[in-house]
Amino acid sequence: MVNALEWRHAPRPHIRMIDQTALPTQEIYLEVDTIDALVDAIQRLAVRGAPALGAAGALGVALAMHLARSEAWSEERLDSEIRRVRDARPTAVNLAWGADRASTRRGEGYEGVLAEALAIVEEDGAANRHLAKLGADWILAATGKDEVRVVTHCNTGALATSQWGTAYGIIHELHDRGSLGLVYADETRPLLQGSRLTSWELTKDGIDHLLEVDGAAASTILRGLVDVAIIGADRITANGDTANKVGSVALALACARAGIPFVVAAPFSTVDLQTETGDEIHIELRDDDEVIRFGGTQVAPPGTRVFNPAFDVTPHDLISAIVTERGVVEPAAAPTADLLRPLAP
Ligand code: MRU
Repeated sequence: MVNALEWRHAPRPHIRMIDQTALPTQEIYLEVDTIDALVDAIQRLAVRGAPALGAAGALGVALAMHLARSEAWSEERLDSEIRRVRDARPTAVNLAWGADRASTRRGEGYEGVLAEALAIVEEDGAANRHLAKLGADWILAATGKDEVRVVTHCNTGALATSQWGTAYGIIHELHDRGSLGLVYADETRPLLQGSRLTSWELTKDGIDHLLEVDGAAASTILRGLVDVAIIGADRITANGDTANKVGSVALALACARAGIPFVVAAPFSTVDLQTETGDEIHIELRDDDEVIRFGGTQVAPPGTRVFNPAFDVTPHDLISAIVTERGVVEPAAAPTADLLRPLAP
């Protein structure tokens, strides 16, 4: 299993990450040793996926602490460089969460911050392993089936996390238990995280799957070709509303109509209890070029105006289960404004 990113001490402290924009044709590793390079990697999606962004935010603070010491930065410069990392993308709460948590140990210097960042990486892997088991248990019980066919959207595997994956982790767990039928992987326009990354991971893991265009997903669900939809999350608000890759809400609507479960899987670091509902989530708008060009070719008339939100929000009442390492909640069955609060420490 490939690690999305890791800390390396030599030849100089840096974050080593696989450049996800080059997959699946090339496996290129980046050695990120400046804040400019890290912000660029985050914004062009060389590193992406909410939990991996949490790790990138935390390791980014460690990198900033190292650079501040070796280049004698002022406290103001250090603050502003950390803020640049923290704010590089707005929707996945994990990025700010990781940067803020690592920053709590600034008083202990570079070593303390790095220890906290590495703890975040470690905990994310463990959380994903655990939530994968909880999710597989819930899905098999809810469907009453020994084997389930799954549709998933975007990429939620090891590439999107510190290890193992969230929705993908559940799919992998079902596979390991001999309880997985065919997987339908949505290609995920416009940046193709589904075809470039999920299909790459499923192929590497020997998991039988069909790649489908995003527009096929609702019909796949209504035609009875799958038993459950499983997606990841970028931010889950206190009432269970969930931001995830644009296109997710279409799956949720189709699942509600078809009467099959729609499951969200995420580590608790993706839960934002400061935000009450999905209406308050800042949805990232990305460049027009991502939509009007495809593989370098212009696919819309010059001057076409574009709407390119990177995420959408699925209302809690369309979500059958939210699976975190701290347990499973069922928003559609028992909606409440404080759905996730009881799981907080
Ligand atoms: O724009 P991306 O590729 O960072 O979007 C990623 C997603 O929407 C994922 O589904 C989400 O971050 C969960 S990853 C475990």
